[in-house]
Amino acid sequence: MKIIGIGSAMPSLAVTNEMLSVFLDTNDEWISSRTGIKQRRIISKDSLKELAAQASLQAIEDAGLTPKDIDFILCSNTVNNFVVPAFSCIIQGEIEAACPCMDLNVACSGFMYALFIADSLIETGKAKNILVLCAEEASRIVNWNERDTCVLFGDGTAAVVLTEGDSFKSHHLSAHSKVEPLYYQRKLEYNPFMKNADGDAPLVMKGKDVFKLAVSSSMSDIKTVLTKANLQIDDIDFFLLHQANMRIIEAIRDNLKQPVEKFPHNIEKYGNTSSASIPILLDELYREGKLEKGNKVVFSAFGAGFTSGAAILEWTK
Ligand code: UT7
Repeated sequence: MKIIGIGSAMPSLAVTNEMLSVFLDTNDEWISSRTGIKQRRIISKDSLKELAAQASLQAIEDAGLTPKDIDFILCSNTVNNFVVPAFSCIIQGEIEAACPCMDLNVACSGFMYALFIADSLIETGKAKNILVLCAEEASRIVNWNERDTCVLFGDGTAAVVLTEGDSFKSHHLSAHSKVEPLYYQRKLEYNPFMKNADGDAPLVMKGKDVFKLAVSSSMSDIKTVLTKANLQIDDIDFFLLHQANMRIIEAIRDNLKQPVEKFPHNIEKYGNTSSASIPILLDELYREGKLEKGNKVVFSAFGAGFTSGAAILEWTK
């Protein structure tokens, strides 16, 4: 499998740390020093649907294809206001594609899982051109009165088009059921036969636990994909890590003993955009001309579940 097209679309509203301190007991110094985030984009006048369609069309055009050439759409999405139909079906209609599509929800690891499924479909000849879309609107699941969670997240969308090739060198996925450290529970309709009604809980997070799980899972995944690809750590040109917290990125970098330049980041501009964070960063590097043919790139993400995944690819675009 190889990447032949990339696109991203971000909400127009940039919400700075100062803007949050108007209604929350927080400040730029705390948020910047604990997370590296200076601002995040939040959906206001735009909609997730419009942004997701825009990112998808950009990726398809970048691939030199039309929506009719796409024969499978995989959409990583944690939340949107439709439970049914799948968000991928809504986007399929928006971009006028005509192929099977499905959503997957693996929280922030969704891009890694979608790549894995895409690779399997391409390898078995079941699909030729696959659109992987990550469309995330975390601003709708955080509690905007809770300073320890809402300051971390942002909204955003990004997409890649994949086709047959030998760019991806190895993948690794993992999942260990651990709900407590990070969850969002929504209230469902009343069922007269149930003894206990469901509660609801806007995003609940044990930050320190997530921090430790993130560093250990990413370290372990990166070592596994290096071994699977028969590569050494120094062979890698770029590590594109899930943009959750600058201190998590620094901890992984220090553990791997690799130079700062190998860890591009944009968390300062966008916050944690869940599964969209790696493809948004990839799109940015690509458009800025920072990726060269032959570069070896590691992707590594982690999220609620607890799930994680990593992959190594050789940049061929
Ligand atoms: O995709 C995965 C998503 N999640 C993550 O990646 C989160 C991983 N964890 C983290 O990034 C960090 O644990 C946090 C940034 C969430 C928190 O950093 P921390 O160094 O673990 O801080 P803390 O939770 O220990 O809080 C320290 C203090 C507390 O006050 P007290 O109890 O010491 O008086 C908090 O109430 O900071 C306070 N605090 C804040 N103060 C100002 C928490 N949030 C804020 C805030 N502004 N926004």
